[in-house]
Amino acid sequence: MFADRVKMRKFVQRRDEPVKIMRQVLYAVICSVLAMIPPALAQDAATEKAIEKYRQMLKEDPWSNPGLLDADRGEALWKTARGPKNVSLEQCDLGKGAGKGAGKVDGAFAELPRYFADSDRVMDAETRILWCMEKLQGFNPADLVKKPHPGGGQPVKELGAMATYVASKSSGMKYAAKLDKPKEKQSVALGDELFHRRSGPFDFSCATCHAAEGLRIRLQGLPFLENPKEARKVVGEWPAYRVSTTHVMTMQHRLLDCYWQMRMPELQLGSEVSVALISYLTKNAEGGNIAAPGLKR
Ligand code: HEC
Repeated sequence: MFADRVKMRKFVQRRDEPVKIMRQVLYAVICSVLAMIPPALAQDAATEKAIEKYRQMLKEDPWSNPGLLDADRGEALWKTARGPKNVSLEQCDLGKGAGKGAGKVDGAFAELPRYFADSDRVMDAETRILWCMEKLQGFNPADLVKKPHPGGGQPVKELGAMATYVASKSSGMKYAAKLDKPKEKQSVALGDELFHRRSGPFDFSCATCHAAEGLRIRLQGLPFLENPKEARKVVGEWPAYRVSTTHVMTMQHRLLDCYWQMRMPELQLGSEVSVALISYLTKNAEGGNIAAPGLKR
């Protein structure tokens, strides 16, 4: 009887052996797979969820977007006599004529970038404001483009605040830039070329990160900007209040940052390249809603 039991146990053990080994192998595999998943991933997902909730809460109450304070600051700056010539920007023609009163700023952003005969150039909102600050108010443009964007935690600079004001006055409208004059078409074509041109030490183009669906870098989803459907969703949200850096970021700033990610030379505010990329993005976003200032991660 006893001997039988021993035999039996041995038999069971032997039968168990391969299962045990398999189980151990399985545990080892699971453990090493778990070890390969950085703990940051789980944390990223939690952070993403929390940020999404925060954004949702801010969106539910549109007046809680801190970017609106910058739009107000921008409006005050726009209407105040400033600069060496001590004049306001109410004489700045954004495409709907110059002068005080509604109608000059309202809806102007929705039709930018556009060609301006006075400068013989295509300009986006920020480039146009820069031009007006120089020509009307007498500011030195070199000073304005030296450090045009805020560092983390700093408020958007004056030009950016005014761009936020101008954009906010088209909020709720649809992008309707015509971009059909020869120089406007040239600008869109140059933007298209630049968007797809690989360059810099990483040999990246904008398309490397923004011309496919569902790409992401760490936490950030990468919008498929080449696709009008996605471009219409996001382009009209700029300038946007950026939660992670606690300030409004303008489109010129956004593009500077993306070029920085490509390790390209610093993109100059108001440059032909910056306007061309904005023209291209605006063309892709044609018919999309303007919801500026938007809200970004
Ligand atoms: C290395 C990848 C990379 C490249 C190359 C790159 N970007 Fe980006 N881009 C990003 C990331 C990441 C974000 C989102 C950042 C964030 O969430 O804060 C972004 C955001 C944007 C946005 C805002 C999208 C939104 O959600 O509203 C625009 C517009 C944009 N990029 C344009 C460009 C253009 C134009 C170029 C080429 C000059 C370019 N990007 C090149 C990584 C890249």
